[in-house]
Amino acid sequence: MAKSKKCFPLLSARIVFSLTFASHTNHNQSKKAHKNGIKRPTSFRSRSLRGVDAKFRRNAKHALAGTIKARKEQKAAAAS
Ligand SMILES: *[C@@H]1O[C@H](CO)[C@@H](O)[C@H](O)[C@H]1NC(C)=O
Repeated sequence: MAKSKKCFPLLSARIVFSLTFASHTNHNQSKKAHKNGIKRPTSFRSRSLRGVDAKFRRNAKHALAGTIKARKEQKAAAAS
């Protein structure tokens, strides 16, 4: 470090650091992004209700129960 500081006497430590140790570059990020392929996030049929408003969850639960009941009745009516 001391040696590199001598090489750049007028530059701040931050710039010296970036000139001497920087391992990051913005060079062709597209290439980097495609290195392992770009994949869609896996999609699920229904998402978790974790962290969802409790009032909404409670109502959704009752609504689902009503839907299931109605479909069951519809099916029974169609069968008879
Ligand atoms: C970046 O890399 C990709 C894949 O090698 C290449 O197709 C593209 O032309 C490059 N982009 C630039 C700006 O060099």
